[in-house]
Order: sequence, then C-alpha cells, then structure tokens
Amino acid sequence: MVRYNFPEYQIELEIDEEVYFPSEDTFFLINSLEIKHDYSLIYEIGGGSGIITIALAKQNPKIRFVVTDISYKAAKSIDVNRRLNGINNQIDIVCMDKISALKRKSPNLIIWNPPYLPKDTESELLSNYEKLTLFGGKEGYEEVYELIDYLKKNNFKTTFLTLFSSLAWDTTKFSKDIEFKILNTTKFFFEKLYVVGFIFSDNNVK
Ligand SMILES: C[S@@+](CC[C@H](N)C(=O)[O-])C[C@H]1O[C@@H](n2cnc3c(N)ncnc32)[C@H](O)[C@@H]1O
Repeated sequence: MVRYNFPEYQIELEIDEEVYFPSEDTFFLINSLEIKHDYSLIYEIGGGSGIITIALAKQNPKIRFVVTDISYKAAKSIDVNRRLNGINNQIDIVCMDKISALKRKSPNLIIWNPPYLPKDTESELLSNYEKLTLFGGKEGYEEVYELIDYLKKNNFKTTFLTLFSSLAWDTTKFSKDIEFKILNTTKFFFEKLYVVGFIFSDNNVK
C-alpha cells in the first residue's frame, strides 16, 4: 500500500492498487454534499479507500457512519484509513453487497459513488476489480436502480445521493412515485456527471 496526502480534506490515505483511487468523480461528489448539523447517521456504499466517509467524519465529529464495500480489499483499506486518521470509533465498516445487511431504515443520508458506466465488449478485457468499480451493468445504471427498488420496497425513509453519467441517464426507468432532484452537474472529457438526490419518505414510499 502507498500513502497519499489529500490536503483539501486534511486526510491521509493508504491505497491498495486494487482499490479505487479517488478521482474527479469522488471529489465532485464530496464537494457537492451538504451535511446538516442535526444529522446523526450516514451510510456510504462502495467506500473504496474510505475517502468520502473519512472526509465527512472529520468535519462532522458527532455523526456516526456505516460504510460498506463489496470488495474485501476496499473494506480493509477503509479500516486502515479510519485508524490512520484517528476516527476509528466514528465509523463502522461492513463488507457486503450495497446495504443488504443493515437494519436501520432511516439514516439521514445514503451516499454512493457507484460504478456507473455502461459495459461494452472491451470492458470484458478488464480485471474484476476494474469491472466492479466502473461498470454498473449493460446500460450503466442497473446497480443504482436495484438499490432504489430495494429502498422503496423496504420502506426506507432517507435521502439517497448518487452520481450518474450522461452515458447512462434514463429517468423513464424510475418508478413514477420516486421524487428526485439533480443537485449538481459538471462536464468531463466525454460525458456529463450529475449528482442526483432521491427522496424516500412516507409520501412516496408505498
Ligand atoms: C467508483 S468506486 C468509488 C470508491 C470511493 N467511494 C470513491 O468515491 O473514491 C465504486 C465502489 O463501489 C464498490 N462496489 C461496487 N459494487 C458494489 C456493491 N454491489 N456493493 C457495495 N460496494 C460496491 C466498488 O468495490 C468500489 O469501491
């Protein structure tokens, strides 16, 4: 593992070569987040190196975080990095698919910088780690849509914040009773990225 400094967030991270290295999408998502003072619990899915949760935890010492990743190497990195940044007790880590084993249904926020690109024939040539971090399915949005369905069916009361690429953005696939807002957009070389918030409340969770 190599240690890197991220002065903008005043954190250091050790990052395994098979763990997603924080990139433009990571920084765009972190810098788009608004964390309210009365929040008490935040879930992050697909924590990778842990950068998003660790940056937020350092800025908000009263909030508890649960961070998940399906990759064991990522979960180990988050463990190393929460200790390295002195916030071991503020963050729980679970290696699992999305949030399938978490029972509390009303975290203030669920955050995920997901794999959001559409798979093509060349993507089959990449390593499993690259596939897991980059591709959300044939269309790109399947992983996120699966989570949205899960939150709805399980009566979560929360806000889910995530990223979409313009290469995989099709709102016609959302169920009509899910309220969502585009909170921020930016342009990269060949695509636009959107930070999108989905609101799950008594009004639209049926
Ligand atoms: C684009 S990376 C983001 C990593 C980090 N949050 C960041 O922004 O730098 C996506 C992460 O989601 C994880 N992931 C992919 N599918 C997942 C799933 N079904 N459940 C949990 N984590 C998943 C990957 O292992 C990877 O760490």
